[in-house]
Amino acid sequence: MDMTTFAIRADQLLTMPDEVDALDEYDPDGDLDERDREITGAIADGGVFVDEGRIQWIGEWNERPEAARGSDVAEIEAGLVTPGWVDCHTHAVFAGERSNEFMLRNAGRSYIEIQEAGGGIRQTVESVRSASQEELAKHLFDRVFESVRRGVTTLEVKSGYGLSVEDELKSLRAIRRVQEEDVPCELIPCFMGGHVVPSEYEDDRKAYVDLLCNEMIPRVGEEGLADYCDVFCDRGAFTVSEAERILLTGKNHGLTPRIHADQMSDSGGVTVATQVGASSADHLEHTSIDELRAMAEHDVTAVLLPSVNLFLDQLDALAPAREALEAGCEVALATDFNPGTSMTQDLGLVMHLGCTLYGLTPGEALRAVTLGAADALDRDDLGRLRVGEEANLALFDAPHLRYLPYHVGQSHVAGVIQDGQIAYWVD
Ligand code: NIG
Ligand code: FE
Repeated sequence: MDMTTFAIRADQLLTMPDEVDALDEYDPDGDLDERDREITGAIADGGVFVDEGRIQWIGEWNERPEAARGSDVAEIEAGLVTPGWVDCHTHAVFAGERSNEFMLRNAGRSYIEIQEAGGGIRQTVESVRSASQEELAKHLFDRVFESVRRGVTTLEVKSGYGLSVEDELKSLRAIRRVQEEDVPCELIPCFMGGHVVPSEYEDDRKAYVDLLCNEMIPRVGEEGLADYCDVFCDRGAFTVSEAERILLTGKNHGLTPRIHADQMSDSGGVTVATQVGASSADHLEHTSIDELRAMAEHDVTAVLLPSVNLFLDQLDALAPAREALEAGCEVALATDFNPGTSMTQDLGLVMHLGCTLYGLTPGEALRAVTLGAADALDRDDLGRLRVGEEANLALFDAPHLRYLPYHVGQSHVAGVIQDGQIAYWVD
């Protein structure tokens, strides 16, 4: 289908308003459906009119303007329509796979044990270093389409498996290359040379941090290869002071800070996030209530990654999701797609886990993969339906919102529109 002017009629149109009173009033015994309708800005029998790639009108179908009724306007009927989903935290540019570790963990070894025995992230670093930029781009290209088929119209992608100047640049250039292929998805590159200290610097970690700050980040900034800089601040990765130095250097080169904080231990990463003005702190399995309050005060979005908890069988260490909402944090959910701790691109599954493991309502979970995820990227043009914005929409064959996280394990996506064009369509 090649269309530029069309009107979508939705049984339920979920617009995702910015300010919602209901978010402060969670009562597990109250009318959760009614609250979710408010959170999602639901319009029954709603309509969206799109022309020249942008949303021109949103409202009740029967009240659509004349321009949306013309014979040249294609009409599309859908069950549930939401903003295009935003997967705001992935490590999707990698080569190889690590199913051996999956097997070892299921036989009782821990993630840290495997990492200390030379596996883990460093395993993927070897694969990425031996891959060409074209090979990395080819893998990423296929993965982008897999995400689009799940309703994703914006995909953040971190480097961090190169860990040398050339291999980090190669990874980020592969992301740019794929975007230039006109894929139907906005790719958001994030530099994460601060993933772990590579083995050749094991005895001189300061030299690696110097390399990051004096060479890699300036090169990334000069070539405009990334919008964000992320660091893994945890046991076995980077300390608080190293993380702070890396993120501040990134900021000086135009990269917005983000941080992997408190995944394995109470790392102090959240304090770094508030001090450097990070757009998000991600993971948060060991974050305290006071730290959540500080995040809310400093507008640091809480990005939760429940598929990692499932993958690593860490169901006894879940992030304090309801407490984060109560503290006033914007909450996002993302796949953390990577070959070690979350080999899934299924944001629908993540939404399900947001409900089952983290106790979110379907409305809160939807906000977390749309507006909340956009907030993690400091992007107020994504994750909500607004007149004047680019038309990024996900259409679902589902009777109501609750059905999406409830019927897990299969895609309910009927179509995806990105930048006003059909990105994916189920016939
Ligand atoms: O976000 N936490 C650090 N990095 C990834 C794991 C990457 C890997 O094991 O390859 C994560 O979970
Ligand atoms: Fe991650």
